[in-house]
Amino acid sequence: MKLAVVEGDGIGKEVIPAAVEILDAFEMDIEKVPVELGYGKWERTGSAITDEDIETLKECDCVLFGAVTTPPDPNYKSVLLTIRKELDMYANIRPIRPLPSVKGIHERNDFNFIIVRENTEGLYSGIEEIGDEVSTTKRVITRKGAKRIADYACKLANNRMKKLTIVHKSNVMKSDKLFLDVCRETATDTGIVHRDELVDSFAYNLITSPWNYDVIVTTNLFGDILSDMSGALVGGLGLLPSANIGDKYAFFEPVHGSAPDIAGQNKANPLATILSLKMLLEWHGDIAEAAILEEAIDSALNMGICTPDLGGKYTTSEVGNIIAKYIRTRL
Ligand code: NAI
Ligand code: MG
Repeated sequence: MKLAVVEGDGIGKEVIPAAVEILDAFEMDIEKVPVELGYGKWERTGSAITDEDIETLKECDCVLFGAVTTPPDPNYKSVLLTIRKELDMYANIRPIRPLPSVKGIHERNDFNFIIVRENTEGLYSGIEEIGDEVSTTKRVITRKGAKRIADYACKLANNRMKKLTIVHKSNVMKSDKLFLDVCRETATDTGIVHRDELVDSFAYNLITSPWNYDVIVTTNLFGDILSDMSGALVGGLGLLPSANIGDKYAFFEPVHGSAPDIAGQNKANPLATILSLKMLLEWHGDIAEAAILEEAIDSALNMGICTPDLGGKYTTSEVGNIIAKYIRTRL
């Protein structure tokens, strides 16, 4: 496997080395290609991501990504939007599942759902007109875009409980009617039990009764917001992994951002990134390794080995180090 490794900015520079130490513990045949991207690069060189960087990413089988800072500068082009579009990674997969010994906002921990977020269009189309008096962002829903994310979600649902929830706001935004119709048709055609909910009341239902959901499919911005919100269910933003999947490329990253408020202090929770690494291993077919990694994470958590956001006293690098050691003893 040829793996592009992007630390990015802020805590990306701390959580990625922790995950890489764990990957190295498996002693697999992996060629790691470091790629510098993000705000730091922009400050230094005037560009956050170059065409050459995109080519390098495309030459790799997949990408392990930390986080990047996006400054509120109209001239700054979002690195992530660029990559997701250039590599056409249309499905953003965000599993939400409780971890052992970590409390979220509920006593009950019998929930396990996946947010399937459309990743290339919607309100993140990048089509904008910025003015002093009026600024607009165009929300784009295409049949092709809706169809491929609906197909992905139905396939996923088929391997799970065959239960799909389509989340939209078609009562107000007619663009969502197309999204809803295509998702409904696809679910009907594939025999998936489905229902749809308006995003506002859905947000309430998801946070109060997460055990009622299995696979959730939604548009770009809604998926972004709902997944961060779901962090509260499992104990924090430092615990949510994700995969960006297209027909050719795959890209694994924590859901959280560069967390400038805690960057440089070696206290960021590396588990979101380590769980993203687990998704990478599963995607690549390294099922045994993924299982050992899960066991190592569970064992660390059960022994209280965690960062301050979970009430622990361990540093980012210590958590990575202890999990890597556990893996070495299991091989
Ligand atoms: P954020 O996710 O970076 O941080 C939100 C809050 O969660 C902060 O208080 C932070 O300390 C905490 N947090 C996040 N990850 C954590 C971890 N692993 N361990 C412990 N605490 C953690 O979101 P925010 O503050 O809204 O954005 C900061 C920067 O990150 C912005 O420039 C934003 O554009 C960028 N961003 C980048 C993303 C990416 O690279 N995929 C995604 C989201 C935001
Ligand atoms: Mg986000």
